[in-house]
Amino acid sequence: MAIVSLQNVWKTYPMGKTEVHAVNGVSFEIEKGDFVSIVGPSGSGKSTILNLIGCIDVPTSGTVCIDGRETGALSERETTQLRHATIGFIFQSFNLLPVLNVYENVEFPVLLGKGDGLRKRRAEARDHIDHLIESVGLSQWRRHRPNELSGGQRQRVAIARALATQPQIVLADEPTANLDSSTGQEIIELMKRINHELHTTFIFSTHDREIFSIADHIIRLKDGTVLENERSGGLRKRLKAAVER
Ligand SMILES: Nc1ncnc2c1ncn2[C@@H]1O[C@H](COP(=O)(O)OP(=O)(O)O)[C@@H](O)[C@H]1O
Ligand SMILES: [Mg+2]
Repeated sequence: MAIVSLQNVWKTYPMGKTEVHAVNGVSFEIEKGDFVSIVGPSGSGKSTILNLIGCIDVPTSGTVCIDGRETGALSERETTQLRHATIGFIFQSFNLLPVLNVYENVEFPVLLGKGDGLRKRRAEARDHIDHLIESVGLSQWRRHRPNELSGGQRQRVAIARALATQPQIVLADEPTANLDSSTGQEIIELMKRINHELHTTFIFSTHDREIFSIADHIIRLKDGTVLENERSGGLRKRLKAAVER
């Protein structure tokens, strides 16, 4: 079963007396453990689709199913639970808490969870968080605050944070947009390595060809519709050939 499934999804936003059609009849499925890129120019609907997958928004019509559950049919409480249990987020602008150090930033989503006592959850998460910080190469920076880190290091913290609750899916909306191209490449390669090691499904958006060509599955958008949806290596090979030409 696909971990993410969109069936004929439409999303319109009211805009004064008219409407903006952000997503127009989009359907696709994403398989568990894939490394997926949603590609398209600015305004093509990437963020809208990631917000729908992230249960931050529901479609105007059509269905979005995450891990077999239709997001539009859930109560607010169920939505929050599904999001917390299943999804980790990485943002373009990192969104770290400036007063917390690296360890505390990575730990933060664990504090928001339910069940057991807070003290117990923190203790149980400690080894996992240390391991995540190590795997993004920041062990020496555990006690440093975000303003002491470079942009690439901050995004590494955000990757570790997204994984703190051991989500099945990590969503990243243009995670490389605020980084120079070689740092952006490193960040995507780090995400790819973690995808490989943990089998976490990653879904990231970008308009950068160098970045999306690493994906196993590329969904290309234009004006809120799917222009191409390719999961095999075929598209990747063609793109690679086009870049090398
Ligand atoms: N909250 C909103 N209210 C009104 N229009 C919106 C809103 N969010 C997105 N849009 C519009 O929907 C379209 C798709 O936007 P978006 O999903 O942000 O695209 P992308 O992330 O690819 O740049 C754009 O025309 C944008 O202006
Ligand atoms: Mg966007």
